[in-house]
Amino acid sequence: MARVVVMDHPLIKHKIGIIRRKNTGTKEFRDIISEIAMLECYEATRNLQLTDVDIETPVARTTSQELKGKKLAVVPILRAGLGMVDGLLTMIPAAKVGHIGLYRDPATLEPVEYYCKLPADCAEREVFVVDPMLATGGSALEAVRMLKEHGCTKLHFLCIIAAPEGVKAFTEAHPDVDLYIGALDDHLNDHGYIVPGLGDAGDRIFGTK
Ligand code: PRP
Ligand code: URA
Repeated sequence: MARVVVMDHPLIKHKIGIIRRKNTGTKEFRDIISEIAMLECYEATRNLQLTDVDIETPVARTTSQELKGKKLAVVPILRAGLGMVDGLLTMIPAAKVGHIGLYRDPATLEPVEYYCKLPADCAEREVFVVDPMLATGGSALEAVRMLKEHGCTKLHFLCIIAAPEGVKAFTEAHPDVDLYIGALDDHLNDHGYIVPGLGDAGDRIFGTK
C-alpha cells in the first residue's frame, strides 16, 4: 500500500499560506515553490539506503555513511513541475533530470502527452516525480504509468497541494508509489480546480496570466 505523507512542518504550512494568496507575485511564488520542494525532499528521501565508508578526519580514521548507489532521478511534469526541480537538486545534486510534458485538456480534464525525455538509465534509478498540483490525479497517474512503462520501479510522487479526489485515484492506480503532499485541500470545483488551492500553478510560476 502506498505511503501517503501529508507534511506537518510549520515552515511548509507557513510557506503554503503565502503562495495561496492571490496577490503573491510571480517571483515570490516561484521562490517559495522551490523552498517547499526542498523541504518536502527532506521527508521524501528519509528512507534512502546508506552504506558504510571508511574515512579519515583530520583527527582519526572512522566509519561514516554515504548514499548507497546514488542512483536518483527527478522528473518534473511540465510545466508547473519545473518549479520544484531546483529545490530537489539543491538537496540531491547528483540526481539526473527527466521531463514529462502533459497538459490537462480543459474540457475533458484528461492529460495529453506532448513530451517525454528520460535519463537512459532511468529504470535503474529511484525516481522522484514532481508536480505542485494533484487535482483529478489524471496527470500524475499518466506520468507514473509512463515511467513504469520505461522500467522504473522505485517511484515517489511529490506535490504541494492535493485534492482528496486525486489522492484516491493515485493510491488506487499506483499503490506501490509513495505520495508526499504539502497540504491536503477540501475538494475540486466544477472546472477541476482545487479548492481552496492556489489557482493555476503553471501560470503563477511562469507569469502567463
Ligand atoms: C496542472 C498541474 C498538473 C495538473 C493537475 O498542469 O501542474 O500537472 O494540472 O491536474 P490533474 O491532477 O487533474 O491532472 P496543467 O495541465 O495546467 O499544465 P501546465 O503545468 O502546463 O500549466
Ligand atoms: N491544476 C492547477 O494548476 N491548479 C488546480 O487547482 C488544478 C489543476
